[in-house]
Amino acid sequence: MSKLRLQPGILDIAPYIPGRSRAEGGQRLIKLSSNETPLGTSAKARAAYRALADKLHRYPDGGALDLRAAIGRSHGLDRDRIVCGNGSDELLTMLAHAYAGPGDEVLFTEFAFAVYKIAAQAVGATPVVAPEPALKADVDALLARAGAKTAICYLANPNNPTGSHLPPDEVKRLRAGLPAHTLLVIDSAYAEYVTRNDYNDGVELVDGHDNVVMTRTFSKIYGLSALRLGWMYAPSAVIDAINRIRGPFNINAAAQAAGIAALEDPAFVAQAVAHNSQWLPWLEREIAALGLTIHASVANFALVEFPQDRRRDAASAYRYLLARGIIPRALENYGLPNCLRFTVGLEHENRAVVEALAGFMA
Ligand SMILES: Cc1ncc(COP(=O)(O)O)c(C=O)c1O
Repeated sequence: MSKLRLQPGILDIAPYIPGRSRAEGGQRLIKLSSNETPLGTSAKARAAYRALADKLHRYPDGGALDLRAAIGRSHGLDRDRIVCGNGSDELLTMLAHAYAGPGDEVLFTEFAFAVYKIAAQAVGATPVVAPEPALKADVDALLARAGAKTAICYLANPNNPTGSHLPPDEVKRLRAGLPAHTLLVIDSAYAEYVTRNDYNDGVELVDGHDNVVMTRTFSKIYGLSALRLGWMYAPSAVIDAINRIRGPFNINAAAQAAGIAALEDPAFVAQAVAHNSQWLPWLEREIAALGLTIHASVANFALVEFPQDRRRDAASAYRYLLARGIIPRALENYGLPNCLRFTVGLEHENRAVVEALAGFMA
């Protein structure tokens, strides 16, 4: 028997399940399981990445100064109030390390992004879940569960995997109702995709309060998932805390170079928004026309609910699609066993999804 003393609760953590990337069957693979962009990566970012190949013997800039300056310029933010992370996952986790621990509670919604629970459990805090009656964050349900022990409240806006969002006045109401000692983490990973008027990424709230942070990612619309790059905009005191606990060189040099170059190519992002704005409604319409329930999404994926009937349920659909080389995201681990999530793909991929679903429903 090992004498090692594993921290209590670690073995209670259900490991994160990433989107599957291999299918059965010989067909061409259509991976729609991880909300990656179908448009690849900006040519400028790819060139910057390649140029790094001759400098691999050097450590990266530990402060990611040029990258933070580029993010600041691009978003009109003070670079000194930005910290970068090895994916926004790392930031979400570091925030838990800095602000929560045993005896504390970490609050999030029923169908929230899975990393929040893992981050809470990893630091020995107690996850507290607020129900989402309509597959949408419910501010009253969150506030009813906030109290003296609530160290952090994570809110994905829009949320993955539901695709729903909270309008700014609701997020404001949430912040106003939380105790002053609770850090509100607004995870805006899909912000770039949202084209509605009743949405913002949370910067205003960060600016107005000392207990709000916003996290962002280069993994989605910028097409840099492989390099792991996220960033956070936060009050100076939070920046200072995270800088004390983060790895000294947590952002590799390739990610820094590619991230800067990606920010210099707004046309690439605009193209991705246009593609999504065309194909998300198309997918939703076509899938609904097959008699399946679509839960409206403002991000780059569609949440589809299947009938309870065993021949037509989500598990059967998943197997059917997989056998045809299409990989959606199964959502049992999110408590949505009768739903599948489909990332918006290229035109031929979206058409293949609808065709396969039509075959499944026939
Ligand atoms: C809501 C949300 N937040 C954060 C992330 C993490 O992104 P990354 O760590 O790649 O920046 C994801 C990825 O799927 C997500 O869906």
